Amino acid sequence: MTANNLASKDFRSALGSFATGVTIVTTVAPDGTDVGMTANSFNSVSMDPPLVLWSIGKNALSQPAFATAGHFAVHILASDQQSLSDRFARRGEDKFAGLELERGPGDVPLLDGCATRFKCRTAYRYDGGDHDIIVGEVLEFDHFEKHPLVFHRGRYSAVAPAASERELAGQSLDFLLVRAQFAASREIHKELARADLDDNEYFALTALGVRPLTIGEMNEIGQFYACIVDHAAIDHMTDIGLIDVNEGADGKITLTEKGHILVLRLLAIGKDSEQTMLDQFEPWEGQFLKDALRRIGRTTPSVAPTPPAVKD
Ligand SMILES: Cc1cc2nc3c(=O)[nH]c(=O)nc-3n(C[C@H](O)[C@H](O)[C@H](O)COP(=O)(O)O)c2cc1C
Repeated sequence: MTANNLASKDFRSALGSFATGVTIVTTVAPDGTDVGMTANSFNSVSMDPPLVLWSIGKNALSQPAFATAGHFAVHILASDQQSLSDRFARRGEDKFAGLELERGPGDVPLLDGCATRFKCRTAYRYDGGDHDIIVGEVLEFDHFEKHPLVFHRGRYSAVAPAASERELAGQSLDFLLVRAQFAASREIHKELARADLDDNEYFALTALGVRPLTIGEMNEIGQFYACIVDHAAIDHMTDIGLIDVNEGADGKITLTEKGHILVLRLLAIGKDSEQTMLDQFEPWEGQFLKDALRRIGRTTPSVAPTPPAVKD
């Protein structure tokens, strides 16, 4: 597309490929009339100070009110608020008739039933072609656990209803941790399957990669990872040439050279998987995630050790 036909229907349609939420922005006019309109130009701007923006058409009947308003409120609509969105997208109607309202800073009208409400002080206004860009500093906000209404290609939709798997993971930290661990260890598990090893044997090999251990010592550590290394596992790993059991007094088990090579390969796969996971995050988020998991693992009372069943 060239600059000549940018203002065309095609440009509008190209912009419509950007899926957004839907908001209603409200304020109060100098004569005390409540004013509001549907807007999907809303976006976040800054965390510190907390700033948001939206833009209003210069032809909108609400424009003069927003051009002077000291405060406004942005309501991110919930998936069941399509008719409210339609009502506030109609030009000049008495959009507030019959609605129960609360009042926010600057006496602006606040609507009920939305997913999130930002109460803002007008911080800046900029000219933006046929729109005014309005930047607000968020003074307060209310966040409700509701699915948002979505607008895409000129149509409303909702975020796809969560599949039951996602519902589970969305509900509880326990499920989130298990789900994340499953995803994080997918590549390791492929390698373990190739080497005919299970999770307990994987744990044992990794622990032996640090230093020689007896079965008892391994199980003392293993209880924190829900791993039990029994004699069948030891025999299996001995048979396939990964470990040597010292039959002498100390009963220590060591990795063979083949065992060392496998542990190094598993470590490298683990590092790769970790990098892939952390690439989704800002560095500080990755660090925060690790710290949070470390704290949960150390301090949660329910992981108090249970004595292992297996003896040396
Ligand atoms: C989903 C949706 C998003 C909209 N987003 C905006 C917007 O960001 N800015 C704008 O000026 N108008 C937007 N509109 C159009 C206004 O809601 C519409 O022009 C309304 O009639 C303005 O009301 P008023 O003229 O009474 O002020 C949107 C309409 C819909 C349906």
